[in-house]
Amino acid sequence: MITKPKGCYDIYGVEAKKWQYVNKMIDSLMEKYNYSYIRTPIFESSEVFHRGMGESSDVVTKETYDFIDRGNRSMTLRPEGTAGIVRSYIENKMYGNMPNPVKLYYNGTMYRYERPQSGRDRELTQFGVELIGSDDPFSDAEVISIPVNLYKMLGLREIKVKINTLGDNESRSRYREALMEYFRPHLNELCDDCKERFNKNPLRILDCKVDKDSDILKNAPVTLDYLNEESKNRFEKVKEYLEALEVDYEVDPKLVRGLDYYNHTVFEIEAHVEGFGSNNVLGAGGRYNGLVELLGGPSTPGVGFASGIGRLIMALDLENIELPIKDDVEIFIMYVSDTEKNYAATLAQSLRMSGFRVETEYTGRGLKSQFKQADRLNAKFLIILNDEDLKNNEIKIKNNKTKEELTLGLDYLLYYLDEVLLEDDIDVEYKEEEMIEEDDCDEYHCEGDHQCHHKGE
Ligand code: HAM
Repeated sequence: MITKPKGCYDIYGVEAKKWQYVNKMIDSLMEKYNYSYIRTPIFESSEVFHRGMGESSDVVTKETYDFIDRGNRSMTLRPEGTAGIVRSYIENKMYGNMPNPVKLYYNGTMYRYERPQSGRDRELTQFGVELIGSDDPFSDAEVISIPVNLYKMLGLREIKVKINTLGDNESRSRYREALMEYFRPHLNELCDDCKERFNKNPLRILDCKVDKDSDILKNAPVTLDYLNEESKNRFEKVKEYLEALEVDYEVDPKLVRGLDYYNHTVFEIEAHVEGFGSNNVLGAGGRYNGLVELLGGPSTPGVGFASGIGRLIMALDLENIELPIKDDVEIFIMYVSDTEKNYAATLAQSLRMSGFRVETEYTGRGLKSQFKQADRLNAKFLIILNDEDLKNNEIKIKNNKTKEELTLGLDYLLYYLDEVLLEDDIDVEYKEEEMIEEDDCDEYHCEGDHQCHHKGE
């Protein structure tokens, strides 16, 4: 049997419906924040990511899928969205031909050659935003609030927002020097990777998965002690705006993040639900004021985040959140004879074009099996075609729940379906809206008699 590559997944059935629901919520949230969708290539010239994410980052040194194409060019499957989007921002001169700041969002697969484990995949899907062209601390705070609001809208409760600042270039280099001074006498006690990180980028040592519990790392200097006044004030402003946006956060002075392009604000949002395991960062990001310039564009500030959809769905499952997935078939058209089948084809098409969700028979089963199939698909209405009825311009329709059966004039069918199914739809949409009404259902306690995401409450 040919199997899928390690660390990759087939997403189908109920699981796929969850993904589609989450994607729908993302699109609707992004519309409200007025971010526009961007799609960049799944592979780019290697230098986009190698230069953009930094030659010393773990992703670039160990995890990129690099290949030489048939034209002898070095290409890389995108391990993240940011560097590719910044490349596109520069190449398409968005700084000149789009309203500033440019607010972009994406949702797509990324590729990292990781050791596969729960929450750590080789093909992963990220939803993310990049806000390019503003250095205002308000934009940092608002970017942090986007995933927080998404998670809340979906019903997640057990999340923790951690923030830190690396400061501006001056603060960062002071901190870098302090780290080198601190680590130098301990070099022999660090892992081989950290020995290399020491020269290339000592901040990376703080991110080491091997040495993370050692006392040397625990007692290392923290960024906050090396910030200049401007960076300190900037961080205070970010915190103020987070408070205005009602985002609960915790300052984690050891948070540095694994990519080289960050300066100033960095953040992570963790899932704290039991059973998640160690890969519990749902989303992460930060400010990258030097990246546009590094990739050849005009000096432009930027801030963004990305959130792994796989981890998000895992958190929803672990918190027992039932998403309001609407997947019932509205109409199942049944037939037996060839003339009935011809009519079924025409009718199915016309009902679909009128906006109904329609199923019919494809394998020549008898009526009894078609009834069973309709039940399996939770069909709400059954249209049972019959040559006799068709001759009289009539049609039989059965409510599959109440088992009530009617014979209708063909001309009346659309009107009837509109009436009965629209009523049902309004009911469902109304319930969905109710679920995201903050007043009715804040994520920490679900009271009231509305139908709630939180199973069992
Ligand atoms: P990142 O921290 O590398 O940041 O990834 C962001 C999120 O992607 C993680 O928090 C996690 O949810 C998910 N993720 C990363 N690697 C894996 C994996 N192997 N398996 C499953 N999920 C994974 C970035 O990618 C930056 N581009 C974020 C950013 C945007 N910064 C500024 N703008």
